Amino acid sequence: MFAERVLSGMRPTGSLHLGHYHGVLKNWVKLQDEYPCLFFAADWHALTTQYDDPRGIEKATREMVIDWLAAGVDPSKATLFIQSQVLEHAELHLLFSMLTPLGWLERVPTYKDQQEKLSNKDLSTYGFLGYPLLMSADILIYRADKVPVGEDQIPHVEFTRELARRFNHLYGREPGFEEKAKAAVKKLGSRDARAFEHLRTRFQQDGDASAVERARALLQAATGLPDGDRERLLGYLEGTGKTILVEPGYLLTEASKMPGLDGQKMSKSYNNAIALREDAASVTQKIKRMPTDPSRVRRSDPGDPDKCPVWQLHQIYSDAGCRDWAEKACRSAGIGCLECKQPVIDGILREQAPMRERAQTYLDNPALVRDIIADGNARAGELARETMRDVRAAMGLSGDR
Ligand code: TRP
Ligand code: SF4
Repeated sequence: MFAERVLSGMRPTGSLHLGHYHGVLKNWVKLQDEYPCLFFAADWHALTTQYDDPRGIEKATREMVIDWLAAGVDPSKATLFIQSQVLEHAELHLLFSMLTPLGWLERVPTYKDQQEKLSNKDLSTYGFLGYPLLMSADILIYRADKVPVGEDQIPHVEFTRELARRFNHLYGREPGFEEKAKAAVKKLGSRDARAFEHLRTRFQQDGDASAVERARALLQAATGLPDGDRERLLGYLEGTGKTILVEPGYLLTEASKMPGLDGQKMSKSYNNAIALREDAASVTQKIKRMPTDPSRVRRSDPGDPDKCPVWQLHQIYSDAGCRDWAEKACRSAGIGCLECKQPVIDGILREQAPMRERAQTYLDNPALVRDIIADGNARAGELARETMRDVRAAMGLSGDR
């Protein structure tokens, strides 16, 4: 059985904003206490759309990693690494390219969508079409069973599941699979062996799903069984072959509700963002300049919070008492908008203070970041090489003939 493991990647798009913090990073910080986690900068993925101008990617990657650290991603808990520094991703991607039907790639919804959305770029490239394949390699190479992603990425994880199934089906039937499986059944001891065979027959002949569940539980509980045999028996049970690559599941990250300065979703491309480590003066300026309820022209005009983007920020940064105060005073024209904005400014600055502080340590000491990444690359590389040994063996590429 493979260990529970979380893996997620982010494209380096430059410094991150508070939307990334509320949408993604807070979740990573929580997950790192619950599972072994791997988080990586998907710099090769950035190349799929930015191949014409790759020079900024390295700096963007560095800034992004500092933002992760600033947000509280902890390198003593999670492994942080850079995709392009673990070459095995590319090897697995190449091997996948041999067995992936073209139609599967053309059918991925983001393929046509993104091509249309980024119509100023020529994205009729091999790498862009192969994007989901590279993402599959990222995931499967770590046998990650939990992939936190936003809704837009779910089709990619589904794609990865199908690809893992296809791979296991094609290569999971090692020479002598049946004989090896039968020998492994014997290792269960006569009582469990009989129960296992019985459950397997019930599943394969009658499609009884509860039989599969019980047989799986039986295998889990068989502590004396070598892992290789357990995997083999899982494949034998379901008629798929040995599990070489683990079908991942996803953890849906709820879409960020973080509003930007104009009330639209916060996004770099809308120019309405506050950077994760933006300096205090600039944050204050930005909030002070934020538009409010447009019908509130004079201080004496009552306002409607529902028509005001500042009110949306109160939902995130203010407690119930403060929200109550702001709402009543807005509707009765009891306060001016600047007064109403102050608790929001304070809230953002309070949230950013520890981030700025953590980031400062890394900015003052760039070698620290280099070491964290070098450690992470090495750890990820070890895990990736473990999987690649099995993948190569399954495909007859071990190099020992
Ligand atoms: N495609 C993801 C995105 O654009 C980034 C990514 C690449 C990723 N590889 C991954 C996410 C593997 C999770 C797992 O957001
Ligand atoms: Fe918006 Fe507050 Fe001004 Fe009302 S008082 S319009 S909620 S900023």
